[in-house]
Amino acid sequence: MSEKIYSYTALFDTPNDIIHAAKVVSEKGYTKFDVNTPYPVHGMDGAMKLPTSKLGFVTLFAGLGGAALALLTMGWMMGIDYPIVIGGKPYFPLPAFIPITFEITVLLATLVTVASLLFFFFKLPNNKHPLHDTNYMKNVSSDKYGISIEAKDPKFNIEEIKSLFESLHASVIEPVYYDEEELNFKPKIADPKFLGFLAAVAIFVSLSVYLHMNKVLYMVPFSWMDEQEKTIAQESSDFFDNGSGMLTPVEGTVARGFIPYAFKNKPEKAGKLLVNPLLPTKENLELGKNKFNIYCSPCHGYLAEGDSRLKGSFPNPPSLHSQKVRNWSDGRIYHVIVEGQNVMPSYSYQLSIEERWAVINYIRVLQRSLNAKETDL
Ligand code: HEC
Repeated sequence: MSEKIYSYTALFDTPNDIIHAAKVVSEKGYTKFDVNTPYPVHGMDGAMKLPTSKLGFVTLFAGLGGAALALLTMGWMMGIDYPIVIGGKPYFPLPAFIPITFEITVLLATLVTVASLLFFFFKLPNNKHPLHDTNYMKNVSSDKYGISIEAKDPKFNIEEIKSLFESLHASVIEPVYYDEEELNFKPKIADPKFLGFLAAVAIFVSLSVYLHMNKVLYMVPFSWMDEQEKTIAQESSDFFDNGSGMLTPVEGTVARGFIPYAFKNKPEKAGKLLVNPLLPTKENLELGKNKFNIYCSPCHGYLAEGDSRLKGSFPNPPSLHSQKVRNWSDGRIYHVIVEGQNVMPSYSYQLSIEERWAVINYIRVLQRSLNAKETDL
């Protein structure tokens, strides 16, 4: 016990007395006082003229912060850092963001509220209080109703308070002094005892979560689909007669996007029936020029005149400006690209269907550049 006074206290016998006392004390203008009762007494907040708790503001701002954080993070990731159109949605699809925004709002609001309750309002890890272990506290936690006016109150005056409590017919009136320990207490986060406690909690929680998730939840018959009746590629299986897990596709199966060429060995028919679907637009011609220069020009030359750059290591092709090729339909040239011709190999693996037609459009341009018709002028 030190000499420094913390508060002056009074004990009463009935809830009506304490409500009346709280009313009088607050009406006299005291602000730093508290009431302690064995159970919540209805109407006490009003009698004490307690202002509404500030905790609501903490929750409000933490929630708003959570909403802003979620929206900014998602907006930045999807609209700025990695802009990508998903399902035709805009770069800031608000309706799609709502569930996560809601979650983060609630999460931050609750976590910050609990943390600020513990560490800001209750001042943990300091758990000392001058009222602890006093005669006053023993009584109000069993069957008495107490009121305590703190020395911090601007109107604090021992004589006045004493006579006020007496006029209210308090059964016990006594001062409470600061505890020596309480006065000198400095919270130490790095306290080995506190750290040891945290470590013990961490180990206990991890261990119980681990055991629960891996042992309790996996008790027979629950395997949570960890064991499945399925074949893994390349593995054997006794499900099919031939003992292999994978079956060869039915004859004639066609892979998606790989429909077989319909005019195999039928160049004349291809020339008659295949129609170039591409218009000679600027983009198509540029695509055709690009692909022609890469795949065709090494043998046919940049101008398709048959001037191979392979310097005799491959038979020189004929010029594509010949009357023959000029008279060929686009479909007939297409056939050469798909099937090759004599020593010229097929280019169907190198060129997509669209690119083949684009190359043909470009060959037409080259042909016209050397043999322009009168109408081209
Ligand atoms: C490896 C060299 C080489 C490449 C690359 C090449 N060709 Fe050929 N091409 C030839 C040869 C050689 C011939 C002549 C084949 C023959 O004897 O009938 C030929 C023939 C042709 C013919 C028929 C000409 C005619 O008069 O019969 C066309 C059309 C043709 N090529 C288009 C192309 C296109 C389009 C490309 C690019 C996708 C291409 N070629 C790539 C070597 C090549």
